[in-house]
Amino acid sequence: MAKVELDLASIPEGKNAIIKWRGKPVFIRHRTPDEIEEARNTDWKSLRDPESDEARTKKPEWLVMLGVCTHLGCVPIGEAGDYGGWFCPCHGSHYDISGRIRKGPAPLNLEVPQYDINEAEGKMTI
Ligand code: FES
Repeated sequence: MAKVELDLASIPEGKNAIIKWRGKPVFIRHRTPDEIEEARNTDWKSLRDPESDEARTKKPEWLVMLGVCTHLGCVPIGEAGDYGGWFCPCHGSHYDISGRIRKGPAPLNLEVPQYDINEAEGKMTI
């Protein structure tokens, strides 16, 4: 299956990138230290789809997710919503800065695909 490789340096801290992978959008966010702290300090066990930020990321500064709302498949908008992450305008699902569902009809967190980070080469492969 085709892989996509991208340069980590092309995504500055605090910015999102969207790439296409197997016909779907993939969101990549280079998170700031404040965002990482917020994601990790959330009481994840109380969430609708309980998942720790540590379980969703290989490196805390990089968040990688399919850009497909787990409700009915719309593409959420970045840097939006009540939790500082993503907002799906179709029916109002709010995802946090770890891509976890926090409010609205979506049942699950945004899905994390398989990916690898090679820090020595400054590359991510999805
Ligand atoms: Fe996203 Fe319905 S498809 S809230």
